[in-house]
Amino acid sequence: MTEHRPFKWPQPLAGNKPRIWYGGDYNPDQWPEEVWDEDVELMKQAGVNLVSVAIFSWAKLEPEEGVYDFDWLDRVIDKLGKAGIAVDLASGTASPPMWMTQAHPEILWVDYRGDVCQPGARQHWRATSPVFLDYALKLCHKMAEHYKDNPYVVSWHVSNEYGCHNRFDYSEDAERAFQQWCERKYGTIDAVNDAWGTAFWAQRMNDFSEIIPPRFIGDGNFMNPGKLLDWKRFSSDALLDFYKAERDALLEITPGKPQTTNFMVSAGGTGLDYDKWGYDVDFVSNDHYFTPGEAHFDELAYSASLCDGIARKNPWFLMEHSTSAVNWRPINYRVEPGELVRDSLAHLAMGSDAICYFQWRQSKAGAEKWHSSMVPHAGPDSQIFRDVCELGADLNKLADEGLLETKLVKSKVAVVFDYESQWATEHTATPTQEVRHWTEPLAWFRALADNGLTADVVPVRGPWDQYEAVVLPSLAILSEETSRRVREYVANGGKLFVTYYTGLVDEKDHVWLGGYPGSIRDVVGVRVEEFAPMGNDFPGAMGHLDLTNGAVAHDFADVITSVADTAHVVASFKADKWTGLNGAPAITVNDFGDGKAAYVGARLGREGLAKSLPALLEELGIETSAEDDRGEVLRVERADATDENHFVFLFNRTHDVAVVDVEGEPLVASLAQVNESEHTAAIQPNGVLVVKL
Ligand code: GAL
Repeated sequence: MTEHRPFKWPQPLAGNKPRIWYGGDYNPDQWPEEVWDEDVELMKQAGVNLVSVAIFSWAKLEPEEGVYDFDWLDRVIDKLGKAGIAVDLASGTASPPMWMTQAHPEILWVDYRGDVCQPGARQHWRATSPVFLDYALKLCHKMAEHYKDNPYVVSWHVSNEYGCHNRFDYSEDAERAFQQWCERKYGTIDAVNDAWGTAFWAQRMNDFSEIIPPRFIGDGNFMNPGKLLDWKRFSSDALLDFYKAERDALLEITPGKPQTTNFMVSAGGTGLDYDKWGYDVDFVSNDHYFTPGEAHFDELAYSASLCDGIARKNPWFLMEHSTSAVNWRPINYRVEPGELVRDSLAHLAMGSDAICYFQWRQSKAGAEKWHSSMVPHAGPDSQIFRDVCELGADLNKLADEGLLETKLVKSKVAVVFDYESQWATEHTATPTQEVRHWTEPLAWFRALADNGLTADVVPVRGPWDQYEAVVLPSLAILSEETSRRVREYVANGGKLFVTYYTGLVDEKDHVWLGGYPGSIRDVVGVRVEEFAPMGNDFPGAMGHLDLTNGAVAHDFADVITSVADTAHVVASFKADKWTGLNGAPAITVNDFGDGKAAYVGARLGREGLAKSLPALLEELGIETSAEDDRGEVLRVERADATDENHFVFLFNRTHDVAVVDVEGEPLVASLAQVNESEHTAAIQPNGVLVVKL
């Protein structure tokens, strides 16, 4: 992996001071021009200072091949800029116009059964099409030429959510590109044969030309997992190469303008390797949509923390989230009162310096007309717009108080996340289909928060070994390099938590032999000979396992058959019925070098982990916050290097009122009442309090 591109952030319009960027996607091309003036007026009222335009405007920008029309866009950018609203300008290339796909159906992506994805929605192009690339680069050049000196354009928004609808393409273009990718990666076909274990089922190949995408193989059959893993890597890389070509086309003409493309980092959003993508953007930007229900806030905080990890603690840009319901779930829940402000402040707390929405004005027609916006169908006389205005004022206040000088304060605990481990756990023909990597870092993040610790979510390539404590949660893949880092980390005094399903395979998806977790058995001091998956698809099958510490395991347990002399058992299974497991070790702690490693050999879920953690935190010597507010409130801090500006964000995670001590000057209180004389505050459910120390 090479170096990250130097960090570059969109700069304020001439004469303006730096603000927290605030706004959203703006689609003026969906509205008659009379509406634009009202838009600008309302934006000013709401404190909006940036909008993203022209994301899906290709058909209007190039209505016929080679015929460009920038007049409308010039007019709208001018109106915005003169009102002090900066523009994050799209390359416009996210969705090709109809004339192009009619003339060149060979740019459409193909699914694994060979069906062609037809126009009718968006992003129906294939990343490996030279024809489509050529068209896209032409538009990038035109846009850059036309807007290179425009003083209101502060950044480039390249394409949109790459891979959102076209992550996998099984076309012949993709086949050729996959062969070349494999050749670059492996050099010889024998190396590919070895990596994919093709001695199995007569899959050996003689030449790179025999490499085909993992197309339809018959229902119920099992695709070669090594090939699948590389296919996912290749698909992420093919889109990344496309992005880089678009970025460079813009850069060639506008070298000074910062560039980004909006990621989709969320707990379950694992289509592309965003950590790898993070190396290639000037600043990281993210689209996050809340998970309805009880995980809403925690999942958001987790995802925002992962985004901060991908950005390596540089400021990042929340490009999209929603003021309320989306349109793309089967049931589109609205947000509860207070959540609009709270959600945005949670992203901000976690290191974002920009708060933007999809979208400014709610559409009146089209597939997204039921998606919430900053200006809803009801118009500005609405709770949503009032909240949007309140938030705009809060953001200005926080910027005035120096928030932009600060970054998310590093936690003492890193929870490690790995896109490739997620990809490997998604394959079929695994010990159980119930285990996926991504659920575990989230469960740990939540269980740590339940114990008063706000963790940082750190990608496996990132600097997790610089934390006091590290969690490796079902990190199925441990490369030789990562195994070495783990060993060194603990040997040098690190405090490590490792769970079941970690370190099973190397980066080729080959099993580390000799008992699990093969490459770090000595570090954790246990040896697992077999797995004990659980389920209820057969009557009488083992459905769960109780632990002596009161936790309950579901879905998966390890059969730990030996524990090193340097290790001891903290909890074991209590299961008369399952004699092989009754009394077997479930959770252990090992001394290794100057450090300690706890091993959690079963899926305990958030609750079971929360219950198991106090004893483990104590054994490993990790201090948590005061007993009384454990878990009720998520405490997130942002500070500058000298600590002159130090902000504390307190979010109520519960459905009850949380009473907290107030240590500094309260700046923002949303659904929170401060009692000045007693130096306390009552934070309502969905409420947040921001204080400056
Ligand atoms: C994003 C996309 C936006 C809009 C939004 C709706 O995936 O980038 O254009 O569709 O979802 O939630």
